[in-house]
Amino acid sequence: SAPLTILGLESSCDDTGAAILRRSGGAVAILSNVVASQTDLHAAFGGVVPEIAARAHVEKLDLMVEQALAEAGVALAGIDAIAVTAGPGLIGGVLSGVMAAKGLAMGLGKPLIGVNHLAGHALTPVLTDGLGFPFLMLLVSGGHCQFLRVDGPQAFQRLGGTIDDAPGEAFDKVARLLGLPQPGGPAVERAAALGDPRRFDLPRPLLDRSGCDLSFSGLKTAVLRARDGVIADKGGMTEQDRADLCASFQAAISDVLAEKSRRALAGQARLTGFAVAGGVAANASLRARLERVAAAAGLPFVAPPLALCTDNAAMIAFAGLLAFEAGQRDDMTLSARPRWPL
Ligand code: KG4
Ligand code: ZN
Repeated sequence: SAPLTILGLESSCDDTGAAILRRSGGAVAILSNVVASQTDLHAAFGGVVPEIAARAHVEKLDLMVEQALAEAGVALAGIDAIAVTAGPGLIGGVLSGVMAAKGLAMGLGKPLIGVNHLAGHALTPVLTDGLGFPFLMLLVSGGHCQFLRVDGPQAFQRLGGTIDDAPGEAFDKVARLLGLPQPGGPAVERAAALGDPRRFDLPRPLLDRSGCDLSFSGLKTAVLRARDGVIADKGGMTEQDRADLCASFQAAISDVLAEKSRRALAGQARLTGFAVAGGVAANASLRARLERVAAAAGLPFVAPPLALCTDNAAMIAFAGLLAFEAGQRDDMTLSARPRWPL
C-alpha cells in the first residue's frame, strides 16, 4: 500500500507540539517532532494558568506546524491526514489545537482525526519499541496517574489511578514547600541523591487497600509537617535536612508506585510487557524500581525516550495513524473535550 503521511498536533496542557509520521509498509518513522514549552510563561504563577496557556498555543501552533514540515522535508500538500488532541486537557488549549486542525483539514481537503491524549501516551511503547498487545501501562505525569491495560489501538481498560493528586503534582508541591525551583521533579530528584531516605518516616498511602488506586495528597501534607517539625526544632532547614526530606519523599512515592505496579501486574494474565510514560517516568530511581518489578514478573520493561514520554505531538500522530487505519474519520463537528476518560 502507498505510504501514509500524517501530521499530529498537541496543545492540551503547557506544550505546543507538531509532528509528522510516515507509515511505509510495516514501519512507522517519526519524520519530525517539535515542541514549544510554556514552562517559562507559567513559572512566576506556580502552576499552569489556563488563559495564558491558550493564548500561547494560538500564537505557537502555526509556527510549530511550519517547523515540523520543514524538518520533515514535507510540503503541506504532502500531508494525507491531520490528527489532533481533542481532550482531555485545559479546554482553551484543546480548542486552539482542534480549530487549527480543522482549518488545515478543510483547507487541504484531508481527513481529520480527533485523538484522546491519554491514548497517545498509552500507545507510545508500540511506536518506540514495537511492544505488542496486551501490555500494562503506568502513566505518571504532572496531570495524570493511572494504570491502563492496553489491549489494542483503541481498547483500554483503566485498572486504577490516583484519587487526588498526580505524582508530578506532588513533586512540584514538595519542591515549592522546600524552596526548590520548578518543575519540582528534577529538583527534588537532584536533592534526594544526597539525602537519607530513612531519615523521615513518611506514609505509604493506600498500601493497606487492595486494588490499583493511589493517593498522593496526604504524602505532601506529611512533608509539610516534617518540614515544620525541623524548623521548630532548629529554627531553619539545612541543605542536608532538605536532601533527607526529598530522599524520604521520593522513596515513599517509589514504594507506593512499585507495590501497586506489582499488584497490577499480578492481576493480569498474558501480558507482553510493562511500560511507563509521563514526565515522572524521567525519575531514575523510580524507573529502576519499576524495572525490578517488571523483571520479577518476568516481563520486559519499556520506558520510551524522555521526549516521547512527556507531552508531544508524535504520540498524537501515531494514535491518529492507528485510528485512521481502523477507519476513524472526524469532521467539522469534532468537539474539544476537557474530560474524556479512555
Ligand atoms: O508529562 P509531563 O511533561 O507533563 C504533564 O504533566 O502532562 O510531566 C511533567 C511532570 C512535572 O510535574 C515534573 O515535576 C515531573 O513530571 N517530573 C519529574 C521528573 N522530571 C519531571 N518527577 C520526578 N522526577 C523527575 N526526574
Ligand atoms: Zn500528557
